[in-house]
Amino acid sequence: MGLLKKDLCDTGDLSNEGLAEVLTRGLRFRETVSANPLLGKYVGLLFLEASTRTRVSFQMASEALGARVIIVDPETASLQKGETILDTVKTLEAEGLDYLVMRTSAPFLPHLIARQTSLRIINAGDGQHSHPTQALADVLALSSAKDPTKNEVRPEELPSLLSGFRITFTGDVRHSRVFRSTADLLSRCGAIVGVCTYGTLGLRYADSFPGIHSWDTPPQRLENYIDVVYPLRVQMERLKSLPFGSLEEYRATCGTTHLAEGQWLMHCGPFNRNVEVSGELVYSEKSLILEQVKWGYRARVGLMAAMEADK
Ligand code: CP
Repeated sequence: MGLLKKDLCDTGDLSNEGLAEVLTRGLRFRETVSANPLLGKYVGLLFLEASTRTRVSFQMASEALGARVIIVDPETASLQKGETILDTVKTLEAEGLDYLVMRTSAPFLPHLIARQTSLRIINAGDGQHSHPTQALADVLALSSAKDPTKNEVRPEELPSLLSGFRITFTGDVRHSRVFRSTADLLSRCGAIVGVCTYGTLGLRYADSFPGIHSWDTPPQRLENYIDVVYPLRVQMERLKSLPFGSLEEYRATCGTTHLAEGQWLMHCGPFNRNVEVSGELVYSEKSLILEQVKWGYRARVGLMAAMEADK
C-alpha cells in the first residue's frame, strides 16, 4: 500500500496524499469509471443499519467500476441463526470477496473487523463515530460549488481548497458521525468550522475539537458569520427520550428556518423536515443537498478506484 491504507475506517486513515488522490479521481469520475478498474472484483455490501444514499451510491459506484456486487442482507443472512459478524466476514472472505462495505450501529466495529480479515473494509457509517465517505462527498460538493471547473486536487493545496468558507453545523452534534468525519475533512481543507447546538445535543468533549467555534446564538442571527449552514438530523434512533422540551423550542434554538442572502445550505440526509430544517429550504436555490447526493456517488467512485490502484 502506498497512498492509501488497506481499509478506510475513518478520515484519519487518509493521508493528505491519499485524500488528494481520492478527490481527484472523484472529480474525474467519468474518466475513472471508463478505465473499469474493479473488473473481476467482488464488492460485498453489509448494511446492518438502514440506508438509502450510501448503499445505493456504493452499489452504483462498484458496478460502474466493473465490480460484481454481493448484497449481504442481514435479514436473510446466517446472522439470523446466531452467527457473529466476524464469522460472517470470515465466510465472505473465504467465498472470494475483495471489498466489504459495512454500516453498523456499533462504533469502531469496522476497525475491529478490518484487523481480522484480508478483505478491504470500507466504513459506511459506524454508530455515532464516523462516516468517512460522507465527508468525502461533502468536500467534493463544496469544492465543486466553489469552482465547478476544478478537476484536480494536489496534496499541497488541501489546506486552502475550501478556504473562504465558514461552515456551521447545527443541531444534534453529539450523536452525529457525519459531524465527526465531515468537520475533520473540512478543517483539513481550510474551511472554518463552527457548531450551534441545543444544550443536550452539544459536543461532549469540546477540547477534542480544537479550532471549532461553539456559537450560543440561533443560526438565523449569525448570517454575517456563516457562509454554509449544515443542520444535522436529530438521531432519534440513538436516544432513549426526546432530548428537547418541544419542537418549537428546538427550532427556535438551532433550527434552520431561513437562509441569508448568499448563504448555502448543506444536509447529508435523511432530514426531518421542519425539525432541524424548514421544508421549503430543502430544495431551494441555495441548497446543496442533492449536490451532496450526486457527489456521494462520485466520491465512492474516486475512493474505490484509488484503493484498487494502490495495492
Ligand atoms: N447520508 C447518509 O448516510 O444517508 P443514508 O443513511 O441514506 O445512507
